[in-house]
Amino acid sequence: MSKAVRIHQTGGPEQMVMDDVPVGEPGPGEIRIRHAAIGLNYIDVYYRTGLYPQDLPGGLGMEGAGVVEAVGEGVTHLRPGDRAAYAGQPPGAYCEQRVMPARCVCRLPDAIDFETGAAMMLKGLTAQYLLRRTLPQGGLQPGDFVLFHAIAGGVGLIAAQWARLLGLQLIGTAGSDEKCELARSMGAAHTINYKREDFAARVREITGGQGVKVVYDSVGKDTWERSLECLRPFGLMACFGNSSGPVPPMAPALLGAKGSLYLTRQTIFTHIATRESTQAMADELFEVVGSGQVKIRIDQRFALAEVQQAHRELEARRTTGSTILLP
Ligand SMILES: NC(=O)c1ccc[n+]([C@@H]2O[C@H](COP(=O)([O-])OP(=O)(O)OC[C@H]3O[C@@H](n4cnc5c(N)ncnc54)[C@H](OP(=O)(O)O)[C@@H]3O)[C@@H](O)[C@H]2O)c1
Repeated sequence: MSKAVRIHQTGGPEQMVMDDVPVGEPGPGEIRIRHAAIGLNYIDVYYRTGLYPQDLPGGLGMEGAGVVEAVGEGVTHLRPGDRAAYAGQPPGAYCEQRVMPARCVCRLPDAIDFETGAAMMLKGLTAQYLLRRTLPQGGLQPGDFVLFHAIAGGVGLIAAQWARLLGLQLIGTAGSDEKCELARSMGAAHTINYKREDFAARVREITGGQGVKVVYDSVGKDTWERSLECLRPFGLMACFGNSSGPVPPMAPALLGAKGSLYLTRQTIFTHIATRESTQAMADELFEVVGSGQVKIRIDQRFALAEVQQAHRELEARRTTGSTILLP
């Protein structure tokens, strides 16, 4: 048996309760892992509220690190006793121990501790696929401007550092002056406090009227329309989240009117659908983190039993960087 935070109905943070659940043995293609640390992500809020559906009662959490205890038939890249970390479906990381698909689990390099592993897999692989794989026509070259919303958050602070490493001029938005300062100290070339400034006007100013080649937008409803104003002709609008609510339906003609723009809605789960792709992405992440070029900030730590409070902090925009839960 394992302690596991689950929801029996969707709703607010109070719906998350600690249950005792059976764990069992891994089947073909699965492993059993004992968590040392668990990552908190905004997607956990979408599952908790029901914005993203699942069968109930359901587990929550898609990121963790710990020790592999057992491997099922056909699993060759992991052995019992390995240190490992993952981002992946199905939800259920908020627990001491679980059986899960091995495909998305990677061996953790010795130089990376469990807390860092749990704080960086889902967020870091997201920063990787956005900046390295979600590109405008012709790609991104050093010196190019990109706009990245919620830059002081978990994904944001990793992206700010990685963008600097790639030589990009990243313009980041955040909801307070303190968050903007933090993001600049971590590598953002420019920041905009979008609670008090018109970010589209500021982006035009910073780019000398040109606009950016890509907008990486995880805020959704509140930023969608003005994000389109920030793009150069043929620019790419890369939506990847809805922290302020989902983007309403739109007519494709709008993209023409704004300058023959491209639109994509990305999810990490397409990118980590195969073992090979997951490992290739993770290898890049391990390289930039292991070499110290990208630092993983854990700004909040909670006991797993305090998960309700952790969700309240995240939704109230009171967190920066990564948050982890300790079982
Ligand atoms: N599609 C994918 O593959 C994928 C993968 C990972 C993450 N994501 C998305 O990326 C985003 C960042 O994820 P994260 O886990 O690192 O979270 P996070 O950025 O640490 O937290 C979310 C941030 O969004 C901003 N925000 C803006 N409007 C908000 C609102 N109305 N309510 C709450 N927050 C609001 C807040 O920053 P400010 O106060 O600075 O505005 C808040 O701190 C989320 O939208 C998440 O769903 C998508």
